[in-house]
Amino acid sequence: MFHFILIFLWVFLAQVACDSCTGVSIPSINTYLLPEAFQGFQSVAGNLSTNFVNTVTSNASVNALFAAAKTSCYYAFDDEFYDILGSKTPNIQLVQMRSSFFAFEGGAWDYDKNQVWFISASYTYPTFISILDLRTNNVTTPDVPAFRNINPNGAYYFAGKMYFAIAGNQSEPNGAPAIYTIDTTTYEAEPIINSFFGEGFQSIDDLSWVKEGNISCIGTGPNLFFSTLDLRPSGIPGAAPLMLQDGVYRYSPQTQSVQGVISRADIVAPNGVRTDASGRYLYITGLAAPFNATGGDGNAFNSSVIYRFTLDEDCFPINKRLVAAVRSYADGLHVDDYGRIWTGEYEGITVRSPQGKVLGVFNAEALEIGSRLPPIANFAIAGDKLVVLALDRLYVIQLGQNVTSAGRGM
Ligand SMILES: *[C@@H]1O[C@H](CO)[C@@H](O)[C@H](O)[C@H]1NC(C)=O
Ligand SMILES: *[C@@H]1O[C@H](CO)[C@@H](O)[C@H](O)[C@H]1NC(C)=O
Ligand SMILES: *[C@@H]1O[C@H](CO)[C@@H](O)[C@H](O)[C@H]1NC(C)=O
Ligand SMILES: *[C@@H]1O[C@H](CO)[C@@H](O)[C@H](O)[C@H]1NC(C)=O
Ligand SMILES: *[C@@H]1O[C@H](CO)[C@@H](O)[C@H](O)[C@H]1NC(C)=O
Ligand SMILES: *[C@@H]1O[C@H](CO)[C@@H](O)[C@H](O)[C@H]1NC(C)=O
Ligand SMILES: *[C@@H]1O[C@H](CO)[C@@H](O)[C@H](O)[C@H]1NC(C)=O
Ligand SMILES: *[C@@H]1O[C@H](CO)[C@@H](O)[C@H](O)[C@H]1NC(C)=O
Repeated sequence: MFHFILIFLWVFLAQVACDSCTGVSIPSINTYLLPEAFQGFQSVAGNLSTNFVNTVTSNASVNALFAAAKTSCYYAFDDEFYDILGSKTPNIQLVQMRSSFFAFEGGAWDYDKNQVWFISASYTYPTFISILDLRTNNVTTPDVPAFRNINPNGAYYFAGKMYFAIAGNQSEPNGAPAIYTIDTTTYEAEPIINSFFGEGFQSIDDLSWVKEGNISCIGTGPNLFFSTLDLRPSGIPGAAPLMLQDGVYRYSPQTQSVQGVISRADIVAPNGVRTDASGRYLYITGLAAPFNATGGDGNAFNSSVIYRFTLDEDCFPINKRLVAAVRSYADGLHVDDYGRIWTGEYEGITVRSPQGKVLGVFNAEALEIGSRLPPIANFAIAGDKLVVLALDRLYVIQLGQNVTSAGRGM
């Protein structure tokens, strides 16, 4: 079955992943007003597992537009999306394609070496890391003995080191969910956090440093925020026995402390974690169906959301503000230097304005094998390049704007 899909794919790919990423523009009004009756794909009522562009309406011209969008590399809802692209047909390169999933998580830009570190899919654990060199498009897979079988997931580059959220593996003696650093030259790995007063965390999913600021986090030194998320529904048992609830924690090297800063009562299943370029805001994605509409195991799964918190002077997240109720689900998260919010969603890589309007989508249906693969979970925005982690494929899309800058610690 799987091989059949891959053979089909090679053909599909020849049409889609040529040198230019072509797209269509969809009027914003169609995101909230459609000619009735409208239905999901193939006359089945629309549901969260089918993408917006699969919607069928009673109007042939709207249907034709959606059908064109379905096979396009991107679709735009707002002119600002073209500011990002620079051109209606930006360049896209298929850097690599493999017969198994190798590009799914992480997506951290080491701007010093101009490399992007990424991680294979938790669907086919144990996961492994790879490095894309953006100058040569060379992909290497370093063997990091400490990482064998313990499932790295989120990644973040900060102050010359790569930081990893480790989902863990309860069968491994050193498999506690943890945060590790890797020296980007020697690949030496070292744990920096693996417990909370003797208790094991849920799987650590993602992480983000924030620098000391002059409005937020004043005099606190840098702080590291990380999310913990029960990943048993996707096959990874983290801590054994499960003790702590899902939550968001903050590590302060200055005070040598790890503190809970967002509890499960505020976000049931925190996933992606990022700060903005100014260090003023902390963004969190909350996970929900359609992975498991019945609620899943353990304490995962609830609303599909992106929240923005303000960081106060002591570096606590306050003023929880919903910036997006997401149509399907939002996983990996990056905030560009313009304050735009980029997320890996069922539909693809979705870009929102700082105020939460969807500007456009890099379309998973064209970048993946239709919607039959798991969704695109993560990606990297590296200066003026978008690195798409499309499971069995790795793409680089050339943007018309430097959306992130070196030194920022994306
Ligand atoms: C959602 O829609 C897809 C496509 O029409 C269909 O295959 C699937 O069965 C639907 N799922 C549910 C839960 O209705
Ligand atoms: C179909 O939609 C288009 C675009 O919104 C509109 O111009 C046209 O009048 C509609 N056709 C019918 C038959 O309603
Ligand atoms: C956990 O580690 C064992 C080896 O100790 C390995 O066989 C298994 O696949 C790993 N499980 C996960 C979820 O990574
Ligand atoms: C890619 O990296 C590998 C391992 O470092 C090296 O052997 C190979 O020569 C590199 N290829 C290119 C095209 O740079
Ligand atoms: C505060 O920090 C921002 C960058 O985060 C900087 O642009 C601004 O100049 C700083 N203001 C003062 C008064 O130092
Ligand atoms: C979804 O959750 C239900 C209830 O916990 C469980 O019985 C089912 O096995 C889960 N399905 C998947 C695909 O994880
Ligand atoms: C969401 O979480 C709240 C609080 O834990 C719970 O009461 C509710 O049942 C959850 N909803 C779903 C759909 O899981
Ligand atoms: C992005 O910045 C780099 C380094 O300054 C520059 O070489 C490149 O042309 C910029 N790209 C765009 C699209 O402006």
